[in-house]
Formats: sequence, C-alpha cells, structure tokens
Amino acid sequence: MIDKYGREIDYLRISLTDRCNLRCIYCMPEEGVKSLSHAEILTYDEILRICRCAADLGIRKIKLTGGEPLVRKGCASLVKQIKAIPGIEKVTLTTNGILLAEQLDALLDAGIDAINISLDTLDSELFKKVARRDGLEKVFEGIEAALAHPGLSLKINSVPVIKEKENFIGIAGLAQKYPIHVRFIEMMPIGFGKQFPFQDEESIKAVLEEAYGPMHAVNERYGNGPCHYYEIAGFKGKIGFISAMTHKFCSQCNRVRLTSEGFMKGCLQYQKGTDLRGLMRGGCTDSELKKAIYQVIWNKPVSHNFYEAKTEQDEIRGMSQIGG
Ligand code: GTP
Ligand code: 5AD
Ligand code: SF4
Repeated sequence: MIDKYGREIDYLRISLTDRCNLRCIYCMPEEGVKSLSHAEILTYDEILRICRCAADLGIRKIKLTGGEPLVRKGCASLVKQIKAIPGIEKVTLTTNGILLAEQLDALLDAGIDAINISLDTLDSELFKKVARRDGLEKVFEGIEAALAHPGLSLKINSVPVIKEKENFIGIAGLAQKYPIHVRFIEMMPIGFGKQFPFQDEESIKAVLEEAYGPMHAVNERYGNGPCHYYEIAGFKGKIGFISAMTHKFCSQCNRVRLTSEGFMKGCLQYQKGTDLRGLMRGGCTDSELKKAIYQVIWNKPVSHNFYEAKTEQDEIRGMSQIGG
C-alpha cells in the first residue's frame, strides 16, 4: 500500500522479544532492560494475525528481529507459519548469531530467505568489551554453518563502534574471503546509541579503499532494507553502508515496525503508532485491525530528524525494544 507521501510500504519488521543474550554497549545497559513478561509480549498467534492482515494490505516482506529473536522459543516454527501466509514473499532474520548454529537447520527447513548477523569486531577481547559477554566463537560457528548453505543469502551488520582502521579492514575482509555482504551501519541516536558519535560512511570507505583498492557503487539491492553497496575487485561479497546520518534514505522508506508488545510504529525515531495488542485483546475484528494498520502506514512520518534537538514525540524505547 502507498502512504501519504507516495511511498510503497511492503516491509514489516517484527521484534519477537526485547530480551537478548548479549549486552552491546550502544543498545543495552549492563543489567539488561527490564524484560517484558510473557503476557505483555504478543503471542505467536497474535503476530500471525497481524501478518495476515498486513499481507492483505500489501506487506510482502517480513523481518524478524529482537532483542535477539532466537532467544524466543519456536522462532523457526513462526517463520514457517508466516511463510505460508498468502502474499508474503520473503521472511528474513536479523540475529546476533550466538544461537544460529544450533537453530540453523530448523530455520532452513522453515524456509528462511536470508539471515543478517551482527558482528562489530573480529577480536574476542574487543567483542567482550562491546557485547559485555563472550561469544565471538559462537557467532563464527553460526557464520560457518550458514556459509555451508550456498543458496542462503548472508550478510554481516557491523556498527563501527571500535574505530580502529584495522577493525574496519578486518570486518570488510570477510567479504573478500567469503560470499557474504558486509554492511557498516552509522550509529543512530536512539536509546544508548545517543552516547556514541557515529562513524561516517566516507571515512570508512577511505580506509577500505586504501587497504583494498577502489570501491565501485553497484545498483543492486541484495535485500529489502536501506543499504547501498559497493564492489571491490577480488571480493566475493559486496561492502554495504546503512548511512541514516549522512545519506538520509527516508524518501525511499518501505517499512513499518511492530514492537514485541504489539505497538505498530511508522518510523524508528518517533513514538507515534498504534497499540495493536490492546485492539486484539479488546476483541477487534480483522477489518478493524486492518484499518488500524492502514492508518499507521498512511500516517507514517515523512522522515526522521536525528539532527535536531529532542522533541516530546521522540521515541523513548531503546533499539532492543524497537527491533533495530
Ligand atoms: P536487508 O533486507 O538485509 O537489507 O535488511 P535490513 O537492512 O532492512 O535489516 P537489518 O535488520 O539487517 O537492519 C540493519 C540496520 O538498518 C539496523 O541498524 C536497522 O536499525 C537499520 N534500519 C533498518 N531499517 C531502517 C529504517 O527504516 N530507518 C533507519 N534509520 N534505519 C533502519
Ligand atoms: N544505531 C545503528 N544500529 C544499531 N543497532 C543497534 N543499535 C543501533 C544504533 N543505535 C544495530 C545492531 C544490529 C542491527 C539490527 O541494529 O548492531 O546489527
Ligand atoms: Fe543484543 Fe543486538 Fe542489542 Fe547487541 S545490538 S544487545 S545483540 S539486541
């Protein structure tokens, strides 16, 4: 469906849980966020109902995120059920990779279309500093297990929070060694991310060009998100940038979001949205639910405004609650 500004909205990001088995410094406090109780988060039946109504309104791609989606039991069976909904073409997952090796077969059986794995450093000590937990080996087990399935589209998401050149060069080198796209994400001032200045695309690109040679922009999209990509001679995968700060992409935005407690949001930055859980638990009909989803899409804000002073409409949820 088309929003007020003529953008086609066909992508829904769903946070399955606000819980996570890591504590990345730009996302969560050491003690974790006060987790929602089971009664507060949407049941899988409620999520499926929203997906069916959203598919009737033109949603074609679903992203499962968290917190960490794989800490919620039954993620793979949810993937399978969403894939069976008429109109849904792609179901993809964004994970920190810790539980990926053990759940990969089930996810593949369920028909997962692509997996994005977050990884900010290749150094296990630095990993512990950023994620405040051990886990680099587990993430690598997940990456290696996934690489054993050549048909699976794989990407690495890296937030450049460790700003040493060697770190960017090392992470980007994964795309040289493996058929995997590596994306650098400019830190957004959401939740704990506000405490960290973002590292801009151009500065990382300069480091990578010095190390690996010229980078040529490619037009292909390799997914449903806002990333743009470059190729480097001899690399098996592409290098991508998600540059919300220096290359605002809101005019091409194609998505809405659902938090784990069932709040549907039009834009990452603003609180504005609708409590679909309240509507469903209050006994709404499918046509009322569709109308509510339609309104969130229609009223989607024109763009974020990360550069200006705070307003009271700004989101107070953290990234782990919104789902990235
Ligand atoms: P692909 O289909 O693989 O391209 O997925 P994706 O890039 O849409 O999803 P992913 O979950 O891997 O998100 C990567 C990063 O992009 C995260 O940091 C998200 O917060 C960010 N991102 C995704 N959508 C938006 C958006 O609408 N606005 C902003 N500002 N950032 C976004
Ligand atoms: N800005 C940009 N990306 C972020 N992520 C988490 N917090 C932020 C932030 N403030 C990233 C994670 C993960 C993806 C889903 O979102 O590192 O790769
Ligand atoms: Fe967990 Fe992802 Fe947040 Fe890290 S960024 S704490 S992996 S939800």
